[in-house]
Amino acid sequence: MSPTAEYDAFADIYEIWTSTAPDSGRNLPFYVEACRQTPGLVVELGVGTGRIAIEVARTGKPLTGVDSSAEMLHRCRTAARAAGVLNRLKLIHADFRDFSLPEPAELITIPFHTIGHLVTMQDKQVGLRRIYDQLAPGGRLIFDHFVYDPQAAERYSGVMLRAEYANPDTGQDTLLWMTTRRNHKTQTIRIITWTDEIDGVGVLVRRQYRRLSFSWLEPEQTRMLLEGTGFEIEALYGDFDRSPFGEDSPEQIWVARRPIGKG
Ligand SMILES: C[S@@+](CC[C@H](N)C(=O)[O-])C[C@H]1O[C@@H](n2cnc3c(N)ncnc32)[C@H](O)[C@@H]1O
Repeated sequence: MSPTAEYDAFADIYEIWTSTAPDSGRNLPFYVEACRQTPGLVVELGVGTGRIAIEVARTGKPLTGVDSSAEMLHRCRTAARAAGVLNRLKLIHADFRDFSLPEPAELITIPFHTIGHLVTMQDKQVGLRRIYDQLAPGGRLIFDHFVYDPQAAERYSGVMLRAEYANPDTGQDTLLWMTTRRNHKTQTIRIITWTDEIDGVGVLVRRQYRRLSFSWLEPEQTRMLLEGTGFEIEALYGDFDRSPFGEDSPEQIWVARRPIGKG
């Protein structure tokens, strides 16, 4: 299944999924600020439902969002219209590996660990090369990536009840479950979720499975990939407060620049 199809099926639970993620809110002010402060074209890859992009647009800064999921983009457009900022968003339905911008970008962001959806090393290389080519000389790429912790991953290997909520579309009482399967050799993760909708006496009326393909990089691998593409590394933060990356950092947050005067 391609990432496109995966997120098309995931879009209806994305909001509840994100709001119950341990670290989702922390990246928001970091990216809004980076976008707001950048003159010129600013682009978010994997714009999703516009969780960050709409907040950027609210500050008055226009933003271009790229996403391979038509369903996520549809939700983004609807939310942006409701927020009165649709005129500041340009949405492009494309894959990270072959998107084209109308002009070179000054900033491209990939928030919320999304680079991990480029599952193989080759996909990551192709995606980074494409990003490099779409940046203006001197333009920056900023993205976050979690730091893989085998012990924490072990805790997520069981079945977890992620949320209990009323389905906003049907009002049905719903349980959101999840588990993961990890492959250390390929550094990949399959995220398997299912929603159980139950009636007033607790009988299951509908179960739907959704799966996502994900992956991780060690910091040294990320550095090699960036440098191998031609990027200059400007900063590596360990968290969204811009503290330097260290042994106990929860995140690897990379700021990389396409050098001026190089191909
Ligand atoms: C975790 S969500 C992040 C959404 C948003 N940036 C946020 O922070 O809430 C990842 C998004 O990336 C998109 N995506 C995943 N792989 C992609 C690819 N290869 N090309 C384009 N979009 C992709 C998905 O469709 C999804 O909307």
